[in-house]
Amino acid sequence: MPAATTIADEILELKKQRNAILLAHHYQESEIQELADAIGDSLELARRAQSFGGEVIAFCGVWFMAETAKILNPSKTVIVPDAEAGCSLVDACPAEQLRAWKRKHPDHAVVSYINTSAEVKAESDIVCTSRNAVRVVESIPADQPVLFVPDVNLGRYVKQQTGRENLTLWQGTCVVHATFAARRVTAAKMEHPEAVVAAHPECPPEVLQLADFIGSTSAIIDWITSHPAREFIVMTESGVQYTLKRRAPDKRFYFVPNEQCNCSECPYMKRNTLEKLRAALLALEPRLDLAPDLMARARKPLERMLALR
Ligand code: 13P
Ligand code: SF4
Repeated sequence: MPAATTIADEILELKKQRNAILLAHHYQESEIQELADAIGDSLELARRAQSFGGEVIAFCGVWFMAETAKILNPSKTVIVPDAEAGCSLVDACPAEQLRAWKRKHPDHAVVSYINTSAEVKAESDIVCTSRNAVRVVESIPADQPVLFVPDVNLGRYVKQQTGRENLTLWQGTCVVHATFAARRVTAAKMEHPEAVVAAHPECPPEVLQLADFIGSTSAIIDWITSHPAREFIVMTESGVQYTLKRRAPDKRFYFVPNEQCNCSECPYMKRNTLEKLRAALLALEPRLDLAPDLMARARKPLERMLALR
C-alpha cells in the first residue's frame, strides 16, 4: 500500500509543477523551514530571489521581503502564504510621512532599512539590512547628513558604530525586539553564568549593551556556530533555533521572552502555515503585484545596496 500523502509531500510536488523556489526566513515555523530551498536573513534571501531563474518565488517571510523579491526579479510570480504577514516597522513609516520629513530636510540623503514598503524604498537613496547597515552608512560621504528610517534602535546602533552625528532617526520599532528588557537578560545571565549573549540590532540599547555579539539573524547563527562557548542567550526571534540546533547540536540556547507577548515570536512571521503555503502554490495567490514605475524607483536603492560587497 503506498504511504499516505502528507501536506509536505503535496507542497514539494506543487513546487516542482510550478517550477518554484521556496525561500524561508529564519523566523518561519520549522515545518516550513524544513521544505525550503534556502533559509536566510533578509539580505541573503534578497540576493537569492534576485538570481532565481525559474518561474515562481514562494516567499515564506513577511510582505516587505516578498516585495523586495518582486522588485529585484520582476518577471517572476512572487507569492506569500498569508497577505497579512506584515511588520510593525513597515507600519511605523508611511510613505506620505517620509515625504513630508524629506521636505523638511531637503539636503539629507535617505537610508531606509529593508523593513519598509516599496513606496518608502522608492523615496530612498540606498537600502540597508541589519547585516550591512554600518557598511551602507559608511559608504555615504561623512559630511552628508542622513535620514535613517524607520528602526530607531538599529539607527542608534549604526550611529554609535560609525560615530556619525549627522544621522537623524525615525522613531519606529520592531514589536518583538524592542520589547526585550535588559532586566530579563541580566536575570538569564545570573541563571546561566556560562552563557554568552548574542542580540539583533533591533533590540533596545540597554539590551545591546549586555550583548557579546550584535548582528543579523544569519550573523548570529554563524557567530554561535563558531564560538567556543557551549551556552548562549539569544536575543532574537526563536525561529533561529531551527538552524542553530542543526548547525550546533551540542550547544544550548536560551531565548529570553519579551515584555509584549512574554514570548520571542514574531506574530506576523507566524501567520504563514503549511496549509496556507499549499493553497498559495495551488492558486498562485496572494501574489505580489506592483506598478512597474514604482518597482523601477524602488529597485535603484536596493541595487545600490547589493552592489556593496
Ligand atoms: P534580518 O535582516 O536579520 O533577517 O532581520 C529581519 C527582521 O525582520 C528582523 O526582525
Ligand atoms: Fe518586523 Fe519585528 Fe517581525 Fe522582523 S520580527 S518582521 S522587524 S515585526
